[in-house]
Amino acid sequence: MKIKLAVLPGDGIGPEIVEQAIKAIKAVSKKFGHDLNYEYGITGAGAIDKVGNPYPDETHELCMNSDVVLFGAVGDPRFDNNPSAKVRPEQGLLQMRKKLGLFANIRPVETFKSLINKSPLKREIVEGVNFVTIRELTSGIYFGERGRKDNGNTAFDICQYTKEEIKRIMKLGFEFAMKRKKKLTVVDKANILETSRMWREVAQEMSKDYPEVKMDYLFVDNAAMRIIQWPKSFDVIVTENMFGDILTDEASVITGSLGLSPSASMGIHTSLFEPIHGSYPQAAGKDIANPIATILSAAMMFEYGLYLQKENEIIRKAVTASMEAGIVTEDIATGKAYKTSEVGDWIAKWIEEN
Ligand code: IPM
Ligand code: MN
Repeated sequence: MKIKLAVLPGDGIGPEIVEQAIKAIKAVSKKFGHDLNYEYGITGAGAIDKVGNPYPDETHELCMNSDVVLFGAVGDPRFDNNPSAKVRPEQGLLQMRKKLGLFANIRPVETFKSLINKSPLKREIVEGVNFVTIRELTSGIYFGERGRKDNGNTAFDICQYTKEEIKRIMKLGFEFAMKRKKKLTVVDKANILETSRMWREVAQEMSKDYPEVKMDYLFVDNAAMRIIQWPKSFDVIVTENMFGDILTDEASVITGSLGLSPSASMGIHTSLFEPIHGSYPQAAGKDIANPIATILSAAMMFEYGLYLQKENEIIRKAVTASMEAGIVTEDIATGKAYKTSEVGDWIAKWIEEN
């Protein structure tokens, strides 16, 4: 099959982790006879420096004209420490999500047997954890009206949802649950927030169409606790934008490192695949960052973006093999720590040979 891939490495460790995923994608494409064409685009701080815009039109065009997008990370401390910066790298990511209509962000958490002792939680709590969070990605407080009033002395950010926005993400939640253990948990703050109460209304109404799915609700504070205390109790979580952002960082460390968690963003136009971690500027250029989250995002790209299951599976198997062989970066190493590029090379070679 002909595959047109847009590659947006971004800032910090973005380029080096994306490079490792490209190695895996190339190896898989060669193995299964796909005609892979990829083209790079600029985003984030790098794009602000070059053209003054963190998501330039040319990059958007490239994404729109591709089958799938592979994304690294954006963010730069130069902007974080400057509250009055007019444009920020993260705005690029938000614009990209909005313009591509990526309303659903799929973030799975799965533990690797060989890494259980790296988890901050006890073995019996982590072993066998397997759930997925579906985070709404193009609305809520991230995209509501924001500003200052009272001569700049009061600031506000509005959280707003339409029923349509809730319906489309809930639909995906039910569909995921149907393909899994048929358990759907809606996370909200319905004891306080009107958006959450409307979310429950919509969810309740829709659950009639999915009688096999056991749906329950959790307040977000309680969910944060249970993800740590009883992560095995979850199958599919569906939640709004900011709750999903926070809970998925929390959930990702269950596996032993933030550097292991991939994600898929899907919606109206081209789907996008990216690790859930950020640009980790302290490690940029050092060849020490964990490329696994990005390589697993490439696996998700084959699964959810190109519907090629064997290609997805072989990448996942290669990742598991690398961990079992101890070919891992310093964040999860028990013995020798390998470089980012060495892990990428090893995984690509494993794919070629297996
Ligand atoms: C994420 C990131 C982004 C978010 C930032 C970089 C804007 O934390 O993808 O989870 O908050 O959505
Ligand atoms: Mn986040």
